[in-house]
Amino acid sequence: MGLEMRLGSPKAYLAAAIGAAVTLFVVSEAMSRSDDKAHDIVTQMTLDEKIRLVHGVMPLPFGPAVTLPADVLPSAGYIEGIPHLGIPALRETDASLGVAYVMGLRHDGATALPSGLASAAGWNPQSTYEAGAMIGREAWRKGFNVLLAGGANLTRDPRNGRNFEYLGEDPLLAGTLAGAAMRGIQAQHVISTLKHFALNNQETGRHDLNVRIEEAAARESDLLAFEIALEAGHPGAVMCSYNRVNGPYACDNDWLLNRVLKTDWHFPGWVMSDWGAVPGIDAALHGLDQQSGEQLDKEIYFGALLKQKAQSDPIWLRRLDDMALRIVYSMQEIGIDAYPPQISAIDFAADAAIAQRVAEEGIVLLSNPRNLLPLAAKAQNIAIIGGHADIGVISGGGSSQVAPPGGPAATIPLGGLTQLEAFFHTALYMPSSPLAAIRSRNPHAHFAYDSGEYVSAAAALAKRSDLVILFATKWMGEGVDAPDLTLPGGQDALIDAVTKANPNTIIVLETGGPVLMPWLNQAGAVLEAWYPGARGGEAIARVLFGDVDAAGHLPMTFPVSEAQLPNREMPGAGLTEGTGFDVSYPEGSNVGYRWFAAQDVKPLFAFGHGLSYTQFRFGGLALARGRKLTASFTVTNTGAREGIAVPQLYLLQAPQGTRQRLVGWERLALKPGESRTVTVAIDQRLLADWSQERHGWSIKPGRYAFALGMSAQMPVGSSSDVILAGRVLPP
Ligand code: BGC
Repeated sequence: MGLEMRLGSPKAYLAAAIGAAVTLFVVSEAMSRSDDKAHDIVTQMTLDEKIRLVHGVMPLPFGPAVTLPADVLPSAGYIEGIPHLGIPALRETDASLGVAYVMGLRHDGATALPSGLASAAGWNPQSTYEAGAMIGREAWRKGFNVLLAGGANLTRDPRNGRNFEYLGEDPLLAGTLAGAAMRGIQAQHVISTLKHFALNNQETGRHDLNVRIEEAAARESDLLAFEIALEAGHPGAVMCSYNRVNGPYACDNDWLLNRVLKTDWHFPGWVMSDWGAVPGIDAALHGLDQQSGEQLDKEIYFGALLKQKAQSDPIWLRRLDDMALRIVYSMQEIGIDAYPPQISAIDFAADAAIAQRVAEEGIVLLSNPRNLLPLAAKAQNIAIIGGHADIGVISGGGSSQVAPPGGPAATIPLGGLTQLEAFFHTALYMPSSPLAAIRSRNPHAHFAYDSGEYVSAAAALAKRSDLVILFATKWMGEGVDAPDLTLPGGQDALIDAVTKANPNTIIVLETGGPVLMPWLNQAGAVLEAWYPGARGGEAIARVLFGDVDAAGHLPMTFPVSEAQLPNREMPGAGLTEGTGFDVSYPEGSNVGYRWFAAQDVKPLFAFGHGLSYTQFRFGGLALARGRKLTASFTVTNTGAREGIAVPQLYLLQAPQGTRQRLVGWERLALKPGESRTVTVAIDQRLLADWSQERHGWSIKPGRYAFALGMSAQMPVGSSSDVILAGRVLPP
């Protein structure tokens, strides 16, 4: 069997597979400077030096003792450098939401970004770029040169414990934003990963599950998010995930790594394993380039074992050369050798301002039926109830956990029998009190706070207040899925009683994703504030008072109940650890809102939904076929306040029939009466089907109809169509 792999355009490497083994050799065609230099460096390496680069430890005081240089900080990963060749050590830290706390071992503090979902709800690639640049800068100033960031897994199940780290359910939105964040990180000469590749869509049985999915369904959804992110962000590394995909583990998956990632997408960087995700040495032949956190695997496969193979078999040696080449290539491309990290002071105030802006942009006004919001600063009795709003805002748990400078406002243990479990299952509160922020915005009012512990006391306070702001929280974290979509700890009963006692109650949700809202019709207004990060309290207050428009839009569908989900029960729930099981997706490539559209089911709140404090009109949609397919339309602020519009363009009809897909959006600030015409380019992969036979994107000839929407459920009148010729686009 012959296999040809192009390992990065314009860089060309050729891989020939002989039997199950992959041989790699370099053909010098239009190589970039990084290629040339990386190749020179690798040719000077001894076998031991190559081996040194392709495996590394988790520098933590757990598990077998490892001897490390004194300057290695507690963090996720460390790979020794080769000083005489100018190859720096890789110093790796989590992650997407800021430089991580590492099980409470780091006390230097870092700026916590709002959750990934909060960033995604801003629909603003510029902000995710700046947020990426901010955490990249902090990482660099703390001595790191690799950030384990770039989470781009799609939300297939809203109960997934790690959804909060990711960017929602749409491949275009998630891919574009992940790409922008990684660009921001790498502009600081810090390598970013893109993770967890791929189909790591739930935490229940994450080491045991096998996703069964048709290639077309994967290419049109989860993989497309990664593909778009890769094109937009050029990450130096990709982290493969824990789960299996159609049989083999993702880190040992020839189809995912060699064919899709390295051949079809021309990924020139390296694939690192997730921590404890390497099942054996053959993973190297199947596309894995580096074993991370090796003490978590059964064996150090990419150490002495790989050396033996490379000494006795030229196929393995060539593979090892390619592994080393890919790592050195990314080091050169992103410049971690030329711009080594400098331990230096961080401007936490400036960085917190960035986190606050991201939080403000992502807060979603879900409902405001009586225009309770925005609030006026006036003398009245205001009750603040629940959510520890007197001390701070909640954050999500796991390896992405960040602790702020000075430490968290509160640390609430949620149970765990091992040290790791106990750390992962902890709710940390960022010291940014919504109560304090609201109070400072309205010094004329009288405030009272009730923890919400006793429903009767909270309801009594609500009854004697003019206005109530009730905070409800739902902690989610790595390693554990939510068993259902309710608000935990009796908060639904609390909200029910409080909203009955006083209809002027505003509910502020701090959650890691959708929750059910049996009390929705009783609430005066509902804001989804996600995990709002370092300055969450201030961001919430500014949105409540209308200092900024409520401009967030949902990056995922909020269902009415679990019965609306493609998998009503979480696959694998109740199985003991180590029991393998299959996960299949009845929705295929129709993830999220596409499933709701295909089933003609109305959710509680649709993907893309988000009210504003003003009104907008979208119109004049016109499509043009040039070198690219583009759509132009006009957005007008028809209300009395300045505001931010997020017009969304959806495909609604294709020659195959009804199909809904987000194909573009814009985010624009408009003054009252102001109108602007915008043009968005449409990526034709979003109109296509993946063709297994033609190994490419197949555009069916015929009519494609589009409409502008305020959300996936609200096309707003302006629609247009275009006739396209049939063709197949290469992968
Ligand atoms: C997580 C990764 C993380 C790694 C290192 C794993 O458990 O899945 O996202 O980067 O640990 O901390």
